[in-house]
Amino acid sequence: MAFMVLVLAACGREDLSPLNPQGPVAEEQFGLMKLAFTIMAFVVIIVFAISFYVIVRFRRRKGDKTIPKQVEGNHKLEIIWTVIPIILLIILGVPTVQSVFSLSKDYSQDPDAVKVVVTSHQYWWEFEYPELGLKTAQELIIPTGKTISIEAKSADVLHSFWVPALAGKIDTNPGSNVNFMYFSAPKEGVYLGKCAELCGPSHGLMDFKVKAVDESSFDRWAAALQEPVALPADPAIAAAFESKCLSCHAVGDKGGPAYPNLTGIGSRSSVGGILVNTDDPQYKNEGSVYENLRRWIEDPETIKPGNHMSDQYDLTEQELDGIADYLSKLTLDYE
Ligand code: CUA
Repeated sequence: MAFMVLVLAACGREDLSPLNPQGPVAEEQFGLMKLAFTIMAFVVIIVFAISFYVIVRFRRRKGDKTIPKQVEGNHKLEIIWTVIPIILLIILGVPTVQSVFSLSKDYSQDPDAVKVVVTSHQYWWEFEYPELGLKTAQELIIPTGKTISIEAKSADVLHSFWVPALAGKIDTNPGSNVNFMYFSAPKEGVYLGKCAELCGPSHGLMDFKVKAVDESSFDRWAAALQEPVALPADPAIAAAFESKCLSCHAVGDKGGPAYPNLTGIGSRSSVGGILVNTDDPQYKNEGSVYENLRRWIEDPETIKPGNHMSDQYDLTEQELDGIADYLSKLTLDYE
C-alpha cells in the first residue's frame, strides 16, 4: 500500500487527473467511473463480509470429523449468483453504452463548433484552426463554452491526445486515419494535456496546454496571430534567425510551415512544452522565458531526447543570446 501511494501520488505539480473534471465531457466520463467504482465497492464489501463470516462461523472445530452438507447442483443458489451479476452488469452497461454513443457525436459539421485539427509530432503538438486559417503549437487556445470539435491525426508515429480535466483520450494514428472527438470548457483556465501513448524517448515530455479564454479574448488572439511579425532588429541576429530557425519554423507570415509556429512563444507558459517559465525559486530547474529559451535552443537534446531540432544548426553565443531575447519578447497580447 505504501509503495502504491508513492507511485500513484507521483503525478507532478500540475493537475493531471480525470478525477477533477472541468467540462461536461469529462464530467460524464467521471460519472461512469463513479458508477463503476460504487458497484465494485459494493461487490467487494459484500463478498468479503460473507467470506469472513463463513470462515469464522463454519470453520472446522477440534475433533469435528463430519463432512459438511454438499450444495453442488443447488438450483436456487446457482440462480442467485447468476442473476445478481447480470443485474449489476445491466446497471453498469446501459449508461456506459449510452455515453459511448453520445460522446461519439460528430460536431465537425456543426457551424457553432470551433474546429481544430490536432496533429501530433515527435514530440510536440500542432493545432490548426482550418476555418480561421491559423496554425499554432503547444498551446491550444479555445473560447469558453463553445464546443471544440477535434480532428486528430499524427505526422509520424502513434500518439494519444489527452486533456484529463476536459475529456478522455483519443489516439492520433499515422496514415490517413482520422479520429474525431469533442469537448468544451465552461470555465476559463489552463488545462494540462499529455501524450498518452508511448511514442519514443521523449514521450513523457510531450506536454501541451489547453487554454480556455472568453470569446472576445479568443477573437483578439486569432487576430493577433495573423499580424505580421518583425524580424530581430540587429541585422546579424536577423540573418542567423532567418537562415537557421526559419528554414523550419514560422513566425507570423514568415518562414517554413513544417515545424512549430513560434508566433507568441514569449507568452506561452512553457518552452518546448516542458520547461515552465517561472521566476518562482521553488522550481529550481526552470527559469524565466528568456532563460528557458536560451537553454532549449542551446541544447534541445538534453531537454527532449530524440527531438528533430537537435544538431540541425550551429549558433554563436551572441546569436544564441540574441535569438532567445527576440523570441522571449515575441508575445501575443490578447487577455
Ligand atoms: Cu507522443 Cu507519447
